[in-house]
Amino acid sequence: MEVTAVKTTPYDDQKPGTSGLRKNTQIFLTKPSYTENFIQSILQSIDENSRKGCTIVVGGDGRYYMKEAIQKIIQISAANGIGKLIIGQDGILSTPAVSCIIRKYSATGGIILTASHNPGGPNADFGIKFNTANGGPAPSSVTDKIFAISRLLTSYSTCPDLKVEISKLGCNEFFIGELSTAFKVEVINSVQDYVDMMKSIFNFDMIKDYIQSSGIKVRFDSLHGVMGPYASKIICNELGASEESVIHSVPLEDFGGGHPDPNLTYAADLVAIMKEGVFDFGVAFDGDGDRNMIIGKDGFFVSPCDSLAVIAANHKSIPYFCKTNVTGFARSMPTSGAVDLVAKDLGLSFYEVPTGWKYFGNLMDAEKIQLCGEESFGTGSDHIREKDGMWAALSWLSIVADRKLSLKDIITSHWKKYGRNCFTRYDYEQVNPDAAAKMMLNLNNMIEMKQLIGKTLTGIDKSYTVEKMDDYEYTDSVDGSLAVKQGIRILFTDGSRIIFRLSGTGSSGATIRMYIDSYVTKDDPGLEAPAANVLKPLVKIALEVSQIPQLTGRNSPTVIT
Ligand code: G6P
Ligand code: ZN
Repeated sequence: MEVTAVKTTPYDDQKPGTSGLRKNTQIFLTKPSYTENFIQSILQSIDENSRKGCTIVVGGDGRYYMKEAIQKIIQISAANGIGKLIIGQDGILSTPAVSCIIRKYSATGGIILTASHNPGGPNADFGIKFNTANGGPAPSSVTDKIFAISRLLTSYSTCPDLKVEISKLGCNEFFIGELSTAFKVEVINSVQDYVDMMKSIFNFDMIKDYIQSSGIKVRFDSLHGVMGPYASKIICNELGASEESVIHSVPLEDFGGGHPDPNLTYAADLVAIMKEGVFDFGVAFDGDGDRNMIIGKDGFFVSPCDSLAVIAANHKSIPYFCKTNVTGFARSMPTSGAVDLVAKDLGLSFYEVPTGWKYFGNLMDAEKIQLCGEESFGTGSDHIREKDGMWAALSWLSIVADRKLSLKDIITSHWKKYGRNCFTRYDYEQVNPDAAAKMMLNLNNMIEMKQLIGKTLTGIDKSYTVEKMDDYEYTDSVDGSLAVKQGIRILFTDGSRIIFRLSGTGSSGATIRMYIDSYVTKDDPGLEAPAANVLKPLVKIALEVSQIPQLTGRNSPTVIT
């Protein structure tokens, strides 16, 4: 099969963000060779010796343009000397499944076609993400290299006549170029390797028995993302739950017109049905299956920060953690401090890292942590190097089955033991980028002038004194790399925190995230009060300090979690 070098013009906007290159689909559809350039840049970032004959995993969340992108990846990979591609049937692979498959088959990396929790379709978003040999998102050193290559790229190599039927399981072999180099494309079952891994982590029989004997009703909402086939296989076929336990389980190119983000706003159907009190245990996943939202009977919402802390405190309910040596936990900086208290109580190490799953990877590879999570509905362990929605759901089911308590009872008993970190996040989506930049600039000036240090700020009926204000920096304890400007923190003397960040996962405009974390002691009469009430004074202070309404013209956020 013939290899051709195609002339191209480099782009200067292919810098991967928090999770790969994510743009409006129209950009991929209309800018000449936009996809080809980025794929070539990814492959070229792998040094030639490792690239020749290597194996790459390819799959995505089923969104619009995924299949076309996969055919381009096949053609460009063949022409760049890749030895083998492992592709999910019809292109379907969740992000956690890609991480699992990279590790299981010792692949050099993986290319994931997803824009995660962003909507899909010709006028929504598309994305391309590269994961490295440990199964995790490429670290900054690699994404910087990809970006540098993309800015200078003048041609890409491809095999224009190569086409593979990705709906058919099995191995295809081709002979490429003048030297007839072998190139294989293996189309695999999208769920099997992942399900096998879950079975090695959890006790499926125990969970199945509990579902049957207790009669609890579970509801898994895949929001028409990639998780449908995984949920049907695990929840219905393996754990014996009824058909109505899984909904929105057919992956659709536009996610049925929805926003595949598992939070109280976008997983509204699940929230509504849980509020009816028929189901006991609800879960929603995002488009590519790495995020999760856990929700109990009558709509009892489990904050992702609490979810992490509870899994940490009950990790012995999960067989995997009984077999492995558990040494520490980690969370991202904006995530509430609930898990810190568990680590301290259990005498384990604790780490705080910037937002972005890639920061956990080094700590896991160095065996410093085994469990971690983020406020952005991500929870996971060192079984792979991505956050894992189904893993989180099965962790919760294991805890429920082991302790034989409802979600609500598990959470409230946790608060009664450790106290409660009340947490909320306000998102202002698609605001004017200049207004967002101005807000960050003003806050940075306050840091510089030490304007707020020692000041007492009052919101409604409560006062808080500022102890420290900074722009968060992180030095990786494994490789010494430094990450700067990771979010502005206002830290109060009582341990409460207000944090401002600009999202790194949007595709247009800017998204301001405002995070509030405040600790309530275990004997406080308001321990079980709604977080929104507890945090009202701090929200007021945060809005006053940041001037978000004045700068953006927004009187309320788009999403509150
Ligand atoms: C992705 C990453 C997470 C990160 C989240 C929020 O899901 O994998 O690690 O926490 O995006 O990112 P953002 O920059 O939008 O707040
Ligand atoms: Zn995702």
